[in-house]
Amino acid sequence: MIRPKFGRFFVFWFRAGVSTMPTLADPFSTQQSRLADERVLVLDFGSQYAQLIARRVREQNVFCEIVRHDIGLEQIRRRDPRGLILSGGPASVYEEGAPRCHAELFRMGIPVLGICYGMQLACEALGGQVDRVPAREYGRAHVSVSAQDGLFAGIPEQTEVWMSHGDQVSRVSEDFLSLARTSTCPIAAVRHRELPVYGLQFHPEVTHTPLGGTLLANFLTSVCGCRGQWQMGDFARETVDRLRQQVGSRRVLCGLSGGVDSSVTAALLFRAIGPQLSCILVDNGLLRKGESESVIAEFTEHFQTDLHVVRAESRFLTTLAGITEPQEKRRRIGHMFIDCFKDEAEKIEDAVFLAQGTLYPDVIESGAAPEGPAATIKLHHNVGGLPAELGFELIEPLRDLFKDEVRRLGLELGLPDDLVWRHPFPGPGLAVRCLGEVNRERLDILREADAILIEEIRSAGLYRETSQTFAVLLPVHSVGVMGDGRTYDQTIAVRSVDTDDFMTADWSRLPYELLAQISTRVINEVQGVNRVCYDISSKPPATIEWE
Ligand code: XMP
Repeated sequence: MIRPKFGRFFVFWFRAGVSTMPTLADPFSTQQSRLADERVLVLDFGSQYAQLIARRVREQNVFCEIVRHDIGLEQIRRRDPRGLILSGGPASVYEEGAPRCHAELFRMGIPVLGICYGMQLACEALGGQVDRVPAREYGRAHVSVSAQDGLFAGIPEQTEVWMSHGDQVSRVSEDFLSLARTSTCPIAAVRHRELPVYGLQFHPEVTHTPLGGTLLANFLTSVCGCRGQWQMGDFARETVDRLRQQVGSRRVLCGLSGGVDSSVTAALLFRAIGPQLSCILVDNGLLRKGESESVIAEFTEHFQTDLHVVRAESRFLTTLAGITEPQEKRRRIGHMFIDCFKDEAEKIEDAVFLAQGTLYPDVIESGAAPEGPAATIKLHHNVGGLPAELGFELIEPLRDLFKDEVRRLGLELGLPDDLVWRHPFPGPGLAVRCLGEVNRERLDILREADAILIEEIRSAGLYRETSQTFAVLLPVHSVGVMGDGRTYDQTIAVRSVDTDDFMTADWSRLPYELLAQISTRVINEVQGVNRVCYDISSKPPATIEWE
């Protein structure tokens, strides 16, 4: 379940609600159909890995879209996919109400790969039987492969795979050939003798199945006949053409925050429509050190956009004065942001469109995907935004992309590495890292400490290794000694996590020497701090941010 809401701009998580602009409902359109000649659909049966499957497919340069498990046959045909992948899922195929796909799907002539639950469904639909296993199998397993060809071309006779199942196929009809087995799972992979239907009981999409990429590549190339030609450069060119057509001679507004998503959105629009793009940067005083300056430099010097900077620090700090409750901070920041943005937008009279850096995971998790996957299963934060009464038409050029693809696109468009690889930063900014009261003095302390931390992580060559690293200012004073004097100063917590999806995360095992260097520098250089702690909590049960 990928839930990285890196897009600081417009992607506020109002855990306390704000009325938001509805995300576009979007029946599959000709625009989308132009995105790729070769497309594979992942039918989502509620798997935590559906997005991972889609990413793995795209890594093979084949465009991939996640759709609902019960998508209609006609909707499938309109998409003209080269292959269908049925994801895993938490249900049991023999349970009443278990999610199913259309029974005829296996006979459409389109290659099907069922993974875990998907395999069980395929085998059951075509005459097999699925039963509960005595003990749920979870973890690494050794699989013996019976023939190293087709799906298993290039896979050795013995290979390691990742299993996670409580049910398994106990019997297949004679139409199926068993391709692999483990000591506890006699039918670990299958192929139908006549139909292009395959099944894997294990998960090829996870890294714990080391040759999973080869298996998926085999399915895509030998079974589905894909050539794997989906490239970011093509995506950029096609999207630019499409944006030009959509916008015509009208004006587009785009909010900039310094985050990757909004920057790539703006860069793409700049390439498409140049002077018809107006950008707004709301400098809320909650950004990291030097951040607004670098955004301004990038979007005025490199991309010469019509950039409107709203200096709103005092408005934000006034509305936050005395507020310590995290959700109330978020709510106030969200409202103030809308007010500031609206005031500036009204000055740009001919603007018709509003561009947002919504990504594919946001689309899926907000339940707005056209034939959306089991979005409702996963939704646990709201994607917020600007209120509908602003009256703009929405443009979301990144809504088909994953984060890593957005980064590739950013590089393709000429954005600097530094910006493209920036760690995620929450919409409410430093306000949710300044625990307790938010004021200029505390924000400055936090900004300085954070800048030192990032500088040290970068010079240790670990910035790209870690997924998100930042400083938190705690509402705690403690006693210390500096020189001959007693101090009673504040505490900085260092947070650094490693994660693929931001849904779960582990704390980064930073070297002790590096931690020591960070601590020494922060305490010596940041006035008002006499103690540094390292957060060694994983998510769950903690979260990445402290508020
Ligand atoms: P948590 O703290 O929930 O964070 O583990 C997961 C990811 O989401 C980011 N985050 C936010 N992003 N608005 C945002 O745009 C928010 O209110 C918000 N809260 C958390 C967090 O930085 C991490 O990347």
